[in-house]
Amino acid sequence: MANVRFFSGEQTPLEMHKVRIVQKLNLQPVEYRRQAMEGAGNNTFLLQNSDVFLDMLTDSGVNAMSDRQVAAMMIADDSYAGSSTYTRLEAKLKELFDFQYFLPTHQGRAAENILSQTYVTKGTYVPMNYHFTTTKAHIRLNGGEVVELIGDAGLETTSTLPFKGNMDIEKLESFINEVGPSKVPYVRIEAGTNLIGGQPVSLQNYTDVSNVCKKYGIMFVIDGSLLADNLYFIKTREESCKNLSIRELTRRICDLCDIMYFSARKLGCVRGGGICIRNEEDYRKMRGLVPLYEGFLTYGGMSVREIEALTVGLDETMDEDMISQGPQFIAYMVDDLVKRGVPVITPAGGLGCHLNAMEFLSHVPQDQYPAGALGTALYIASGVRGMERGTLSEERGLDGSETLANMELLRLALPRRVFTLSQVKYAVDRIDWLYQNREMIGGLKFIEEPEILRFFYGRLAPVSDWQEKLVAKFRADFGDSL
Ligand code: F0G
Repeated sequence: MANVRFFSGEQTPLEMHKVRIVQKLNLQPVEYRRQAMEGAGNNTFLLQNSDVFLDMLTDSGVNAMSDRQVAAMMIADDSYAGSSTYTRLEAKLKELFDFQYFLPTHQGRAAENILSQTYVTKGTYVPMNYHFTTTKAHIRLNGGEVVELIGDAGLETTSTLPFKGNMDIEKLESFINEVGPSKVPYVRIEAGTNLIGGQPVSLQNYTDVSNVCKKYGIMFVIDGSLLADNLYFIKTREESCKNLSIRELTRRICDLCDIMYFSARKLGCVRGGGICIRNEEDYRKMRGLVPLYEGFLTYGGMSVREIEALTVGLDETMDEDMISQGPQFIAYMVDDLVKRGVPVITPAGGLGCHLNAMEFLSHVPQDQYPAGALGTALYIASGVRGMERGTLSEERGLDGSETLANMELLRLALPRRVFTLSQVKYAVDRIDWLYQNREMIGGLKFIEEPEILRFFYGRLAPVSDWQEKLVAKFRADFGDSL
């Protein structure tokens, strides 16, 4: 965002865009919200969006599009093969990222499927700074293991360190030596660790990882889904990069790796994905899977309208005003919650604000899913929908035991350019109230637990009548307020 100082001295994020299309929201009464939560099996994924006031579930596929993106959709060339829309995307990708080849996919996890099927085999290991749910599931499905080598600071919930997403380089090198480079098909760095607070990676760390990969002849893969936020953080937090433009930074990062895949539901603000590839050999290895799972090579399962908007969206990602909005709104929310003593992940990262449920609900044991329970409580108290990022989002071990997550987070995503500051203030106010009443919140238990990615559609119930009591307290404190 442009450098604008307020006379009052207040630090207020100022939007460098105006809203020209709006969607009406519903805020249902608290009693209705409790019932809706029950109907959704205490799983925020199963709520109807019409029952949600502020949808902070995710930033995926729900970022606001620009007027230029919507306009571009009108000129899409809807042909199965050889679409000129696709040619325009290819040219933009080459200009910004400079990889020789590209394979389009319908979204990010489809790229993960193709990568994992191509490179991961039984007995191999994929070192990464931190896993993402679908990434891990695909690697495991192909017989591989995920090895998390995040720096120690990455798992500290509160910190002032600017790049908590960095990989521990010494750990990486000793791991490669321990198992041998032939067991490591690639090293993956997630640009902004989703599951541990959207914490960024420094250009220095990308460089160090790349050097280790070169030394051992291992492929370096970047998951660029959260690249936009990461670019902003490098620009504003990494001293040696402050004079580089966003375009220059982007090229520096891309030049370091062999493959960069991304979810265009985040990067580019549309709905799609793809894999940027440096070598012809890798391109040829993966290419056959695109028509098999996605669609022909010039659309990959994406609508051509989305592709046209993606070309514009990627170009707009090079605009610092555009990529600042998310992180600055998140910082505003995090700072306000910190002032009120509410435990959140610090420093503020990308993607959203992350409530630390382990501390918020220190009385709820991890096998009663504190982050999931907090998600249901917040919805009941406010109509705000967040996403559990803790034990519930883990898969059980092979013996059926719970895999207790390193962190229990309730992620409140701020899709880019979607919410206003007063809506953020409302969310902060209701979170503050919940924190003051945190002792009332109890845990959850499964009543229906799917085997794969259970967090998406599993159903749970509260362990007691704590939700009814919370509703009564809300009424006592807020009177007839919605
Ligand atoms: N990688 C990262 C870092 C992600 O955050 C996601 C999606 C994916 C890959 C998969 O991409 O959804 O397009 O298939 N994250 C979403 C979220 C789901 O809500 O954080 P996808």
